[in-house]
Amino acid sequence: MSRVTLNDPSPAPWWRDAVVYQVYVRSFADSDGDGLGDLPGITSRLPYLRDLGVDALWITPFYPSPQHDAGYDVADYVDVDPRFGRLADADALLEKAHALGLKVVVDLVPNHTSDEHEWFQKALAAGPGSPERERFIFRKGKGRGGKQPPNNWNSVFGGIAWERLDDGDWYLHIFDRTQPDLNWRNPEVRAMFEDVLRFWLDRGVDGFRVDVAHGLFKDRKLRDEKVHGTTEGPSSRHVSSLLETDTKDEPMWDQPEVHEVYRDWRRILDGYDGDRMAVAEAWTQTPARTAAYVRPDELQQAFNFAWLLAKWNAADMADCIRRTFATLEPVGANPTWVLSNHDVVRHATRYGGGPVGVARARAATLAMLALPGSSYLYQGEELGLESVDVPEGLRQDPAWFRTGVEWRDHCRVPMPWKGTKAPFGFGGRKQPWLPMPAEWAALTVEAQTGKRGSTLELYRKALKVRRTFATTAPREVEILDRAKTVLAFRRGPVTVVLNAGNRPVSLPKGNVLVNSGRLVDGKLPPNTAVWIR
Ligand code: NOJ
Ligand code: MG
Repeated sequence: MSRVTLNDPSPAPWWRDAVVYQVYVRSFADSDGDGLGDLPGITSRLPYLRDLGVDALWITPFYPSPQHDAGYDVADYVDVDPRFGRLADADALLEKAHALGLKVVVDLVPNHTSDEHEWFQKALAAGPGSPERERFIFRKGKGRGGKQPPNNWNSVFGGIAWERLDDGDWYLHIFDRTQPDLNWRNPEVRAMFEDVLRFWLDRGVDGFRVDVAHGLFKDRKLRDEKVHGTTEGPSSRHVSSLLETDTKDEPMWDQPEVHEVYRDWRRILDGYDGDRMAVAEAWTQTPARTAAYVRPDELQQAFNFAWLLAKWNAADMADCIRRTFATLEPVGANPTWVLSNHDVVRHATRYGGGPVGVARARAATLAMLALPGSSYLYQGEELGLESVDVPEGLRQDPAWFRTGVEWRDHCRVPMPWKGTKAPFGFGGRKQPWLPMPAEWAALTVEAQTGKRGSTLELYRKALKVRRTFATTAPREVEILDRAKTVLAFRRGPVTVVLNAGNRPVSLPKGNVLVNSGRLVDGKLPPNTAVWIR
C-alpha cells in the first residue's frame, strides 16, 4: 500500500476539481451549415454540456486565421474568425455559459503567430536588420551565400524548422512554415500578450489553455541540438519524450526564462476576481520539469500527459498516479488528468479499438474521474468515439502535408448529434469539413441518451456521482496492493478497482456507485472499473 497526498489550497478555487470539456470548435456544432463548427453552434449546445455534468469548457482557437493549423496559426488575437462568428458571438457564449454555471477557458497561442499576422507581414516588408524582424526569429544562413539553415533544428511537423526568404534571411518555425516563432526576448512581444490576456479577461473568460507553453524561449544562441547517433529531430519527441528515461538535448524547449513570463501572467490573473486560471500545454521531458510550470507563483495547472501516455497496464497507471503526486507535492500544485485531446489517437483506439478498446476507455476514464484534481475530457469521448481513418485526399493536418504520416485528422472528425445519416445533426445538409463514418449512427447523442449501458449515460452518471464527493473527499489517495493486473486505490470512502487483466477479480464489500461495465457474479470482469463505497 502506498499513500500519496497533496497540499490543499483553501478555500478551493473553481478549477481545483473541475471537469473541463475540450470543445474543438470546428468539429463541435455548426450553426450556419457551412460544414465547419462555430461559436453560435457551441452556444446552442451549452445545455448539453451542463446536463453532461462538466464544470467548464475549453474552446480551441477561434481567432482570425488562415487555418493552416486549424486555428493554431493566429492572425489576430483579439477578434473572431468570420468562419466561427463575431466578437458578439463570443460574448453571447460567455454570457450563456456563465448563466448555466459553466466556466469558459480559451486557447492562447503565444509561441508563434500566423504568417498573416500584421507583425509578420510588416517584418517581411521591412527587410533584414529591421526592428520589425526583431519580433520574430530571423537569422542569416550558414555556408556559402548563407544557403544553409542557421542551425540543425527540425520542425515538430517534419522537415527543417527554417524557411528562407528571397532577401536571404531565414526565419524559425518550430511548427508549420506558416507559423513563425515569436522572439520572446523582445519586450514588445511580452507587452502584446499581456494586452491579449487582459482583452479576454475583461470580456469574462475564466482561464486560458496555453499552447506550447514550454516553447516560448529558445536557447539564446540558437545553438545546434546535440543529436546522439540519430537524425531524429524534436518532431518525434514532442509527444513521446515522457515515456523515455534519458533526457535529451533540447535547446528549443523548456528554457528557464519562460518561467518569468508565467510569473507576470500570474500577477495579471490574480488581479481579476473569480479565480481566473491558466493551464499549460507543456510536453516537457519529465514530470518534474512540468511541475516547474505550476509553482505557486506561476500557472495553476499543467496537463498531465504522463497519464495519457500510460499504457493499458495497471502497474503503469499506479506508477503514474504515484509519480504525479510525488512531483506535484513539493510545489503544492493540484494534479490534472487527461486521456484524449485533438492531437492524439483517441483513447478507445489507443487501448486496442473495437468493443475491447471502448470498454477499456470507459474503465480508464472512470478511474480517472475518482482522482483528486481536475480532469480534462475531449469532445466525443463521452460517446465512445474512436479515431477515424480519414481518406488521404481529405486530410488537412499540416503535419500530414509535411511528413506524409497521418497524425491528427483521425481524432478531429465532427460530433454526431442525432439522426441516421451524416452529418448527424452536426450542421446543415452540407457534409462537414471531415467526413463522418456511417457507423456513428449508433453513437449519436440522441441514440445514446437514456440508453442503458451507453457510454454517454456512463459519463453522465459518473459526473453526477463525482459531484457528491469530489470536492469534499480527502485529497489523499491510497494505492492498494492487488494483483499486478489490477489498479486499486482508495480515496476516503470511495474505493476504485480497475481490472486490466484477463480474468474476473473479486471486489471489496460495499455499494457499487458506478461501474463501467456489467459485473459478473459480483466479480469485476476484465477491461472494467468500478467505484465502491
Ligand atoms: C499544440 C496544439 O494542441 C496543436 O494542435 C498545434 O498544432 C500545436 N500546438 C502548434 O500550435
Ligand atoms: Mg459553421
